[in-house]
Amino acid sequence: MRRDDRYEVSTDRGRLDVSVIHGFLSQAYWSPGVPREIVEKAVTHSVCVGAYLDGAQVGFARAVTDFATFAYVADVFVLDEHRGNGLAMAMVRALRGHPDLQGLRTWLLLTRDAQGLYRKCGFEGLDDPSRAMISQNRDIYVQGFAEGSGTKPAH
Ligand SMILES: CC(C)(COP(=O)(O)OP(=O)(O)OC[C@H]1O[C@@H](n2cnc3c(N)ncnc32)[C@H](O)[C@@H]1OP(=O)(O)O)[C@@H](O)C(=O)NCCC(=O)NCCS
Repeated sequence: MRRDDRYEVSTDRGRLDVSVIHGFLSQAYWSPGVPREIVEKAVTHSVCVGAYLDGAQVGFARAVTDFATFAYVADVFVLDEHRGNGLAMAMVRALRGHPDLQGLRTWLLLTRDAQGLYRKCGFEGLDDPSRAMISQNRDIYVQGFAEGSGTKPAH
């Protein structure tokens, strides 16, 4: 579907609305209950992109990166009523095209069911999933952290 001309996508950090971002992420399947200060800290230390309609934020994505070799795409969402307008694809492409994120060797992401979206942005499934490993506390914001797991919140 073609993108509605009224929508804008921008990597200007000053336009981000943390209330909208936190409002979605605290309900998302991958970060239920995430505290606002954690979202603020993540936004501060990421390359972020927002989607806007009449100045109001309706979508978000961010890249966690070393700016040299690697970027991890996280927290991609579009508010329900604005989906199907190409905004997620435009945001991921804005991150991939960001001047500070050129020449990286590896881009990575995790998704439960949006593989089709990311295939359109140049991602593919792992050739050999047995080579990937993860340490993750999925319930960290609702059940607390496990001592020694490396997932202790930095307060
Ligand atoms: C997934 C999500 C971000 C997609 O946002 P969107 O703005 O509607 O997506 P787009 O309109 O940019 O989609 C672009 C293309 O990807 C496809 N696509 C979008 N979501 C998809 C999905 N979940 N699975 C497969 N393909 C998908 C679309 O069909 C579209 O293809 P087309 O160009 O051939 O029509 C949105 O549905 C959302 O916020 N979902 C809830 C949060 C979520 O699951 N985020 C992803 C976490 S990894």
